[in-house]
Amino acid sequence: MTATQPLRLGVRWDEPSQDVRLNRAFRAGLLDYVEANYPITPGHPPRVDPAIPIYVHCPVNPIASPQGVNWRLAAQVREAAEQYRSPWVGEHLCWAGPGAEGRLGYIVTPLLSEEFQKVAADNTRKLSDYYGRPVALELAPVYQHTGTIDSEVHFLSKVAEEADALIILDVAHFTASNRNLARPMDFGLSTINPQRIVELHVAGIRPSGSGRHWHDSHDRVPEPAILELVQHLIRTLPALRAVTFEHAEESPESELVSTLEALRRMMQ
Ligand SMILES: [Fe+2]
Repeated sequence: MTATQPLRLGVRWDEPSQDVRLNRAFRAGLLDYVEANYPITPGHPPRVDPAIPIYVHCPVNPIASPQGVNWRLAAQVREAAEQYRSPWVGEHLCWAGPGAEGRLGYIVTPLLSEEFQKVAADNTRKLSDYYGRPVALELAPVYQHTGTIDSEVHFLSKVAEEADALIILDVAHFTASNRNLARPMDFGLSTINPQRIVELHVAGIRPSGSGRHWHDSHDRVPEPAILELVQHLIRTLPALRAVTFEHAEESPESELVSTLEALRRMMQ
């Protein structure tokens, strides 16, 4: 990983219904890659222009769980990562959930303790060996602080150091967590080794019904405060290689286009 490699702009892929608009965006020069989220429905991979690189991401394997990772899910991820030559595989630092894929774990952050740090680092190393490429770790939005480590950002930083992993900074999750816990909007950034951050995720956020919390929201465009932080990160992170916009397929294509145009301008 070197800073001389180009910074690329991509879009998250969840459903085959996105294929048409993503191909259109590619032809318009608005995206450089697609980031596919696993698991996907077997037989329904992204059907995008073969010239579009595909990065592989898996937000639901509970790698911060003492239960261990779901190897059936990891096998599907590895097959895709090899097929598409994904430069790294994104994984979430989530706890176990009741489903076979640990789906609920996406929103359950592990206890922030040295024991869970070791579990997560061990699982990250095992997965990286199994995938044959780096794992890039991402945090889910956080709603409360539980444990003895200072924060989830400190936890992420420690796990990444111990496992020699890369990091995806999800700016929407990061912003929601900082608002939920009444912290400054750049809280914790200085605790992360900037050389490890290779990718940003960009999305909207929305207030909860009660107004007390903020949630990730892929059906909204990012608010100006998030775009300003993204711009700052693009200018300052030395190893950044990818910026992924996460946008729901039900939302207007015009919002996809206008946000990609705004992100592209920042990257020039
Ligand atoms: Fe994300």
